[in-house]
Amino acid sequence: MNKTLADQFLEDSSYQQAKGKILESLAEYQSRITGIRPPIAELRQKYEDILEVFQKHRAGTLIFPYLGSGIGAGPFVELADGSIKYDFIAGIGVYQFGHCHPEIVASSLDAAVKDTLIQGHVQQTTASAELTGKLLNLANREGHVFDHCYLTSSGVMSGENALKITFQKKSPAKRILAFNRCFAGRTLAFSQINDKPALREGLPEYFPIDHVPFFDPEDPEGSTNATLSAIDALVEEHPGEYAAMFFELVQGEGGFYPGNTDFFRTIMQYCKDHGIAVLVDEVQTFGRLSKPFAFQYYGLHDLVDVAWIGKASQVCATFFKESFSPKPILLGQTYTAATSVIEGALTILNHWEQGDYFGDQGKIEALSKYMRDQLKSFANETGLIEGPFGIGSMICFTPGEGDNARVFSFAKKLFEQGVISLTAGSDPSKIRFLLPYPAIEEQHIDEVLKITFDLLRSGDF
Ligand SMILES: Cc1ncc(COP(=O)(O)O)c(C=O)c1O
Repeated sequence: MNKTLADQFLEDSSYQQAKGKILESLAEYQSRITGIRPPIAELRQKYEDILEVFQKHRAGTLIFPYLGSGIGAGPFVELADGSIKYDFIAGIGVYQFGHCHPEIVASSLDAAVKDTLIQGHVQQTTASAELTGKLLNLANREGHVFDHCYLTSSGVMSGENALKITFQKKSPAKRILAFNRCFAGRTLAFSQINDKPALREGLPEYFPIDHVPFFDPEDPEGSTNATLSAIDALVEEHPGEYAAMFFELVQGEGGFYPGNTDFFRTIMQYCKDHGIAVLVDEVQTFGRLSKPFAFQYYGLHDLVDVAWIGKASQVCATFFKESFSPKPILLGQTYTAATSVIEGALTILNHWEQGDYFGDQGKIEALSKYMRDQLKSFANETGLIEGPFGIGSMICFTPGEGDNARVFSFAKKLFEQGVISLTAGSDPSKIRFLLPYPAIEEQHIDEVLKITFDLLRSGDF
């Protein structure tokens, strides 16, 4: 006997048939989703009542009145009021494979009949071991970068783990360098690093952060020199005090600002020369450019010390070199992720391996170009938007002058009209899309842009 009972059970024809039936039935219901539609009148009141109580309980309104029903098909998602919307923000990148992707549902079913509901650092399944290995292979595919990969439950927690191992290694250095407009999540530590005072209002200061200017595409050389001088002045002022510099290679929440290889290499090399650890937050960029990691896209694999991912990968993870290995018990957590999420992440990685997504001729670049070309033409013809901006499947534009309130009002109107987007940045504020590229074709982009352009032309927002 060379099989566990668990494997025998999963392969058992009774389980396989039951699973097949469930997937078949789901596919039948999904096939009824053929486009956007307004709410079902009879469900409206109940939906509004649930929303009202939910928002009261959680002490804050939701960005959009969104409560999913639990079913979707590719870029379409059904809400609990029966409406169907185009989801072009994908839960800020979480539903990257669209809604109810059959392979992900299938892996979730397998996980649902397994023992552990949520895995943690004391008890895990072989899926966690397999995922860790696969993630390391992906991160090292352009050349060896990392020796270790540590799974965790959220994007910001993978960042916290990165910070902890870095501070421990660099102790007693405790200053951090970061770029203007950066965003890294909402724990106490990262509230300090985010370049947005409103995100740390009333919170105590933990360690000193110095923000320096990000890359300016209008002046690549000048901005590289200016940033380098700013960092150099700070390092001279605080010798030996900087533990790390935080890099978000495509600024996400800040407004989809990409960087540039020379810029990053220059700054990272300076960090290396001065004993400052190079930390790369890939939570929003992972799986969204023409290479899986943004540090691969920019050709930086020889300069990165620690990186972390989240969102698209479902399970989040921190990657680090041997020399950054933590002392025992620095890291650990009761929850890593649900078994279904871990198995879902494996399915996603397998799908990426098999699909034609990455590379200059891959689907990400093709759809990105298709959407940007249309946005560019619209901008030229009408002057109603600035842009497009962004890179890969991270695409955004500025409606009008980019006034915060007006852009948010635009996003809300777009939501009402059946397209889910989100704002990013301020001064100017933008409308952003995170394309669920495995689940869409050009025709979906056409439909989303038609609704978007009609709303822009109407000026009714
Ligand atoms: C660059 C970046 N880092 C970290 C985070 C935090 O991730 P999470 O919300 O999963 O904690 C985000 C979330 O938007 C992000 O965009």
